[in-house]
Amino acid sequence: MVQLTELVDPDKLFHDDYAYFSSISTRMAEHFWQYAEWVREKYTAAADPLVIEVGSNDGIMLRNFANAGVRHVGVEPSANVAQAAREQGINTLCEFFNEQTARQICDEYGQADAVLGANVICHIPDLHSIFAGLDVLLKPTGVFVFEEPYLGDIVEKTSYDQIYDEHVFYFSLHSVSALARRHGMELIDVLPQSVHGGSMRYVIARQGSHRPSASVAEILNREIDKGLAEAATFVRLSERINASRDALVNLLQELRGQGKRVAGYGATSKSTTVTNFCGIGPDLVEFISDTTPGKQGKLSPGVHIPIVPYDHFTESRPDVALLFAWNHASEILANEAAFRAGGGQFVVYVPEVRILDDKTAYRHAG
Ligand code: SAH
Ligand code: TYD
Repeated sequence: MVQLTELVDPDKLFHDDYAYFSSISTRMAEHFWQYAEWVREKYTAAADPLVIEVGSNDGIMLRNFANAGVRHVGVEPSANVAQAAREQGINTLCEFFNEQTARQICDEYGQADAVLGANVICHIPDLHSIFAGLDVLLKPTGVFVFEEPYLGDIVEKTSYDQIYDEHVFYFSLHSVSALARRHGMELIDVLPQSVHGGSMRYVIARQGSHRPSASVAEILNREIDKGLAEAATFVRLSERINASRDALVNLLQELRGQGKRVAGYGATSKSTTVTNFCGIGPDLVEFISDTTPGKQGKLSPGVHIPIVPYDHFTESRPDVALLFAWNHASEILANEAAFRAGGGQFVVYVPEVRILDDKTAYRHAG
């Protein structure tokens, strides 16, 4: 298991002023529609099924179940995003998911056909409490489906910017499989996803209740081939991370030396890791534009680059956009055709530092 050893109190991270509203991205809305359809087809054949989502945020996934009339409960501790979901008629419990809330839900609604999650299980320090909760909450044939940024992609793309306080764990099949087994469960399916820079969807069920698909063994073997269970792989990763930092700082200094104005695109959590690790401040990046109202008018953590509304990006016409939200690249590059046609350039640093030209596609797009 690759994980952080220094943890921030969850109450300080997830509260009534949580900055990330999932529905900000249309690409992700489409992804969650597909995710929900897939779950409905495969795992909710029973009469009057019950679906629970851990970390349901503003309802980006559950609205698909609500619209289809499926019984559902979202468990979402951040009150502002939970409220946004409730306003759309999505049944939401404003609590942290753990063994205790699982019992509470089970008492009120009965056992679930599917417990879902996305980009949330890696945020929860007490994984054993989640699994104890699943043991209470899942029907004998129920499934736990969750997807998170995948360790294999982080290593392959040197996407070290996934490493920050909210992300306690960087899962591989090996770690998830071992965790499930400790709780009498097993991995029954696994599906790579392109979102968030490369994610993995895991399907877990009670041991022996489903026949595991061939892809579980296949991807477990692939992890061994790629050295994901060996320390030397991570030593090499740290060397590539240092080289990436040097290349990015050199390129930004060069661009500034040519008198170019550089703006950050997307005040992502990931950008906090990059700017602080590389020492990139307002001298190199003038501002960061972001569409989230709650981030605008603030300073980026640590290095204090001003965060401004998107209008400022279009009006002030920087020469270069440093793509901090690279996981949304396909959506952003499609929207920014005019910026590029007018001579604007995008700089990326995953999987390597470079200026994007028009001829080569950026394939790491979410
Ligand atoms: N699933 C959404 C949101 C991901 S952000 C998406 O993929 O877009 C992570 C969310 O998990 C936040 O809304 C946060 O408040 C919530 N969260 C954090 N800890 C949690 C816990 N213990 N139980 C349930 N939700 C949690
Ligand atoms: P996110 O994908 O959550 O990354 P992280 O998990 O690292 O925080 O955040 C994307 C951010 O980018 C979010 O603050 C919204 C912003 N954004 C834009 O400003 N413009 C866009 O077109 C898109 C898609 C996102």
